[in-house]
Amino acid sequence: MLETRDLTIRFGGHVAVDHVSCAFAPGTLTAIVGPNGAGKTTYFNLISGQLPASEGTVLLDGQDITTLAAPLRTRRGLGRAFQLTQLFPNLTVRENVRLAIQAREAGRGQGGGWGGVDLFQIWLDRQAWIDEAQAILAQVRLAGQADAHASALPHGDQRKLEVALLIALDPKVFMFDEPTAGMSVDEVPVILDLIRDLKSRRDCTILLVEHKMDVVRELADRIIVLHNGQLVADGEPAAVIASPVVQQAYLGMAAEEPA
Ligand SMILES: Nc1ncnc2c1ncn2[C@@H]1O[C@H](COP(=O)(O)OP(=O)(O)OP(=O)(O)O)[C@@H](O)[C@H]1O
Ligand SMILES: [Mg+2]
Repeated sequence: MLETRDLTIRFGGHVAVDHVSCAFAPGTLTAIVGPNGAGKTTYFNLISGQLPASEGTVLLDGQDITTLAAPLRTRRGLGRAFQLTQLFPNLTVRENVRLAIQAREAGRGQGGGWGGVDLFQIWLDRQAWIDEAQAILAQVRLAGQADAHASALPHGDQRKLEVALLIALDPKVFMFDEPTAGMSVDEVPVILDLIRDLKSRRDCTILLVEHKMDVVRELADRIIVLHNGQLVADGEPAAVIASPVVQQAYLGMAAEEPA
């Protein structure tokens, strides 16, 4: 479904992602691990189109999307967690989710027919979107904040809203870059439950960058390891975690991570 071939980006003389070739099958969750600065986020940026590749290709459903602009990749089903800058801070949480649903429907060529003459149908569509938005907010445990302005949410709830928007878009590929970063201990399980949910209920491809090895061990079907921009290990979680390259990388990383 999603594949990169020799995907590479150079910043000046620095090769941040170095000829990474990897295929991600539907129905699997692949964790991408590696020390700080290994190139994990940059790899995501290349896949989602936030950065242009210096070399190599990105394929989605067998089609070369390497030079497609990011929004067109989203339309093809690549779902990168939203950045807060992509939210409408002055709209409510529910309205933000409703807009993501509406964008999805517009991308599919249904609904969103504001120019149409069937006003009743438009009203029905809009009501259906609002109901769906409310259901998604319940799923991410934000139902109680539906009427709050997006900008007023505390950090942990903003991260949940990012996941809600991604669910609303209903992509084929879900990309999460440290989804629990900065969350309090009691909020982390909510996000992990959501990812677990996505994994069990849908035939989607999930890519997860995560530093917490207990999370990775529990959720991942497969782990790939990036180190200095290169793919240095790829396989079953237990085998990869036990491999010398990961032990070494993570011993190194443990020293940099706050306790
Ligand atoms: N836009 C950019 N311009 C120049 N260098 C960049 C740019 N983006 C990333 N880099 C460099 O590429 C390397 C990989 O960075 P990246 O953010 O992908 O690492 P990471 O694996 O996500 O690390 P972390 O675990 O800390 O999030 C780093 O050396 C970083 O400084
Ligand atoms: Mg990163």
